Amino acid sequence: MKERIEQMLAEVVGVELVSPEAVENFRVAYLGRKGKVKDLMAAFKEVPGDQKREIGPMLNTLKQAIEQRVSEAQQATLVRPKASGMDATRPSGGVPLGTHHPLQVVRREIVDIFQNMGFAVAEGPEIEDDWHVFSGLNFPPEHPARDMQDTFFVERDPDILLRTHTSSVQVREMERREPPMRLIMPGRVFRNEAISARAHCMFHQIEGLYIDKGVSFADLKQTLLHFARCFFGPDTDIRLRPSYFPFTEPSAEVDVYWGLKTEVDKRITKGTGWLEILGCGMVDPNVLKASGIDPEVYSGFAFGMGIERITMLRYQIGDLRHFFENDRRFLDQFAGER
Ligand code: DAH
Repeated sequence: MKERIEQMLAEVVGVELVSPEAVENFRVAYLGRKGKVKDLMAAFKEVPGDQKREIGPMLNTLKQAIEQRVSEAQQATLVRPKASGMDATRPSGGVPLGTHHPLQVVRREIVDIFQNMGFAVAEGPEIEDDWHVFSGLNFPPEHPARDMQDTFFVERDPDILLRTHTSSVQVREMERREPPMRLIMPGRVFRNEAISARAHCMFHQIEGLYIDKGVSFADLKQTLLHFARCFFGPDTDIRLRPSYFPFTEPSAEVDVYWGLKTEVDKRITKGTGWLEILGCGMVDPNVLKASGIDPEVYSGFAFGMGIERITMLRYQIGDLRHFFENDRRFLDQFAGER
């Protein structure tokens, strides 16, 4: 009796049930009124009393195993209704997730690097007055940036305009705070320019400002070198070239050494190996004074960089317009970035 039960158990585990008919035949053969389990049940009655306690549970186990086998096979071979052409049990395709915009990825990375050096984030308005964009930054009255050709005006006299650079946030923060201050200021800026692969009427900048007693040009250089090595890699070299901005004196432009290995390197660095990434300088005493900071006591440095430009370098993007067209084929390439 025990052997018959064990043999049957092995039998039902091995059998293949691939169609609804096969399942039904199997069910009738084992569990039907004249099925094999019934036969065993009949034989069980003849088992001597002292063996019943052992064989009874075995028989139950066998029966349950067969019932389970049948119910699983019924599920697996179930023929689904075809009538409507719709299958309500089909798993859904999932919701497609968006990606971080490459400009956001780079903005966050740059801001992170400066936050790690103790800079705090500040933001200001995109619609500004003349004072915060020009006059407070030592622009002379006849400076060409004040011209309609370069700047979008919302109103004239008094002038209300779209900020042309994030340096305006410097002025707001210097008016609002007492030194020392160490700030990083990302934002969107606007210029009246024809849209092309290299220029747009709207783009993004990040401004930096550090004011304290005894801040020197050496602090500026070291801060920017540290930034360049964090962002472009630990072996990155930078150089500073003398330049001019109304709000800094002395002023400089900063290049990173990009290399001349490929034809692309030669083209984008115009054969020099160096790429300009930002403008900077020591805050002009006139600018400090205009915002109520005593230049006899405090000094500071400032810098500003374009996020589009740095993003194009980082990802080798050839056309600025890609950033603003929301083409999924472009944006999906940044799926892994955060
Ligand atoms: N505002 C400048 C621009 O839009 C960039 C800049 C240069 C900002 C030098 C600075 C600076 O703070 O010191 O081109």
